[in-house]
Amino acid sequence: IIMTQDEQKQAVAQAALQYVQVGEIIGIGTGSTTNLFIDELAKIKHKIEGAVASSEATAARLKQHGIEVLSLNSVADLPVYIDGADEITRNMHMIKGGGGALTREKIIAAVARKFICIADQSKLVKVLGKFPLPVEVIPMARSYVAREIALLGGQPAWRQDFTTDNGNVILDIHNLNIMNPVELESTLNQITGVVTNGLFARRGADVLLMGTDQGVETIT
Ligand code: A5P
Repeated sequence: IIMTQDEQKQAVAQAALQYVQVGEIIGIGTGSTTNLFIDELAKIKHKIEGAVASSEATAARLKQHGIEVLSLNSVADLPVYIDGADEITRNMHMIKGGGGALTREKIIAAVARKFICIADQSKLVKVLGKFPLPVEVIPMARSYVAREIALLGGQPAWRQDFTTDNGNVILDIHNLNIMNPVELESTLNQITGVVTNGLFARRGADVLLMGTDQGVETIT
């Protein structure tokens, strides 16, 4: 069998259910793969306590399925966070934020004990950066941050007609070849006006469930 990209997404969404334990609260990411996971989670919704959502879109989909959405501030312990990625390496470093939800994703990932990444094989790369790196920026700092990013050698593009759930803007940095993701993540965070960047390197994934032509491969 050769699985299509959609079949791979479906397979990893289903495989992620094994990380859901009875009575727990689940952290949920954003994107098409995560949406498939939410649909799977709905089938066992009576077994979980509720979910914490990384975006308004995810919260809406969870509620449509009758899954209770809890505030992160009311949650002391979050066993797992399940989310997709735009790019991931075998070192478990990721680029995220293609859907613009990077800040809330990073906050929930910081709280969660385990990050389970679900992705089709097109997301697996040797070096991060082909996918433009999203940076969430306070609106009045947009031009300043863009100039600072240019000084670092990146080519920032303002994501037009887009506002994040937090009321901010996104700069997508093109043509990066990210040899040291841990360092770049910190460097970008130092620019005043930057809220978050889409590098998940300091806190990467713990498990990657990757869709392949043959089925799901588990990488830890
Ligand atoms: C959302 O902001 C991103 O971090 C997503 O995780 C990413 O875009 C993956 O989306 P797909 O599952 O649709 O590829």
